[in-house]
Amino acid sequence: MSDLQLTGSKEQLFNADIRQQIDQWVAKYPSGQSQAAVIPALHILQDAHQGWLSDPLMDALAEYLSMPTISVYEVATFYTMFELKPVGKHKISICTNISCMLNGSEQVVEHIESRLGVGLGKTTSDGKFTIKEVECLGACCGAPMMQLDRDYHEHLTAERIDQILDGIS
Ligand code: FES
Repeated sequence: MSDLQLTGSKEQLFNADIRQQIDQWVAKYPSGQSQAAVIPALHILQDAHQGWLSDPLMDALAEYLSMPTISVYEVATFYTMFELKPVGKHKISICTNISCMLNGSEQVVEHIESRLGVGLGKTTSDGKFTIKEVECLGACCGAPMMQLDRDYHEHLTAERIDQILDGIS
């Protein structure tokens, strides 16, 4: 049982399962260094709250990990994998960095925008997809590529994108 605590209404944001998952990460670090678990903890909270992090959630995490609130915000705003506003059921992150750009990321963006009827940074009206532009995702040899939820898709063409999106419910 962890000795990490939350007070007042913040307690309702973390159920027992979430606490247990975060506590497992905290246990990997030396005593008194609970803030070292902030990145995995943000992932856990995001996954458990419809894919995004509200201010009250991040405030609660700061208290739980005994770290300054601003430090949680600094991490959450630095990394593009964290969302600070509501997103669709599925998130498509399209890399437009140098290798992907040289291999057709512009056409990938155009095709996805046209197919879904929304621009980068937006969510479809049915709430199914959010599309966003991201920096290099470390899969340059598979350029152009995108990340759909947790999966990478590489060597994209319009046909391949259609195949992938047709398979998403
Ligand atoms: S430039 Fe796109 S994955 Fe590296």
